Amino acid sequence: MIPSPKKPNLAMSALYAAPGMCDNLHSMKPAVLVTKRIFPEAIAYLKEHAELDYAESDDGMSAGELAARIRGKQAVVSQLMDKFSPEVLASLDGIKVIANVAVGYDNIDVPAATRLGIMVTHTPDVLTDTTADFAFTLLMAAARRVVEGHHFVHSGQWTKWRVDLLVGQDIHHRTLGIFGMGRIGQAVARRAAGFSMRIIYHDARRAPEAVEKELGLEPVSAEQLLREADFVSLHVPLMAETRHMIGARELRMMKPTAILVNTSRGPVVDEPALAEALEQRVIAGAGIDVFENEPHVHPLLLKLENVVLTPHIASASVDTRRKMSMMAAENAVAAIEGRRPPNLLNPEVWEKGAASA
Ligand code: GLV
Repeated sequence: MIPSPKKPNLAMSALYAAPGMCDNLHSMKPAVLVTKRIFPEAIAYLKEHAELDYAESDDGMSAGELAARIRGKQAVVSQLMDKFSPEVLASLDGIKVIANVAVGYDNIDVPAATRLGIMVTHTPDVLTDTTADFAFTLLMAAARRVVEGHHFVHSGQWTKWRVDLLVGQDIHHRTLGIFGMGRIGQAVARRAAGFSMRIIYHDARRAPEAVEKELGLEPVSAEQLLREADFVSLHVPLMAETRHMIGARELRMMKPTAILVNTSRGPVVDEPALAEALEQRVIAGAGIDVFENEPHVHPLLLKLENVVLTPHIASASVDTRRKMSMMAAENAVAAIEGRRPPNLLNPEVWEKGAASA
């Protein structure tokens, strides 16, 4: 459910309306920067609670512009292209919270923010099923050659039915290997169970026993996963340990018939190594939604037919993107109003603040 914008506080509205007082009281509201376009409901909600500086564009900001525009603000509603390095964070004065409109937060150096007493929030849960749906969409599109079929029909090449026309791979009863058995990994496994797949997974932390049992999950080593899976789907966060976790060596371990799906973060895969592996048919195909240098895509990937490419849209359903916008706005407002933001990544900052209050 999308939370509806809160009703305006009538007493406060009357005060705002009083002649001569309006500007004064308005300027008392905390100031919030929204770095890029978000859904209008979230903007309406923020306007009720804050003085808004809204960059109503899809362009985003350079580090310098970001730092300059954040000056005097108490909160920033950010997106994944806004990079908060330790240097940028150190240049922000008086900011209480960075509310990211994403579940991933590799664009923000959270330990540095914590040291500086800045809260960081994200948007978990609301996008879990939508993202899992899309990982499965890519898996099926690559396995059953949907995009090739679309181009074939569209370009008028379809002149007769052929017994081996665009034959692809079965999905049902085959083996899905999932790296990362968190919220989204589990949601993908739930879908795979419906396709009677064998599901193997690898994660630094074992999934709860009840989840393993319910979904029939087999924990395996990374190497076993790569060697046995017909489909490999990535659901790990981007961190030092996961950067390039799939490179030339790992791709060579996979079956030549295997398909790789990535809806996590681009740098989890060594993109040039993937492009080369796809070109040389080291693996059969891939479905890729995230890239190492977005929106740049490795030029070889753009030429290949055995890969389905999408522009980082795994969570992009209308409902989910609206909920993500609203959730980030609510996190920002909670922080500026002195409440604990619901989706706080560094509770230490809040606890320290509460202790010293
Ligand atoms: C999107 O990539 C997200 O992290 O929400």
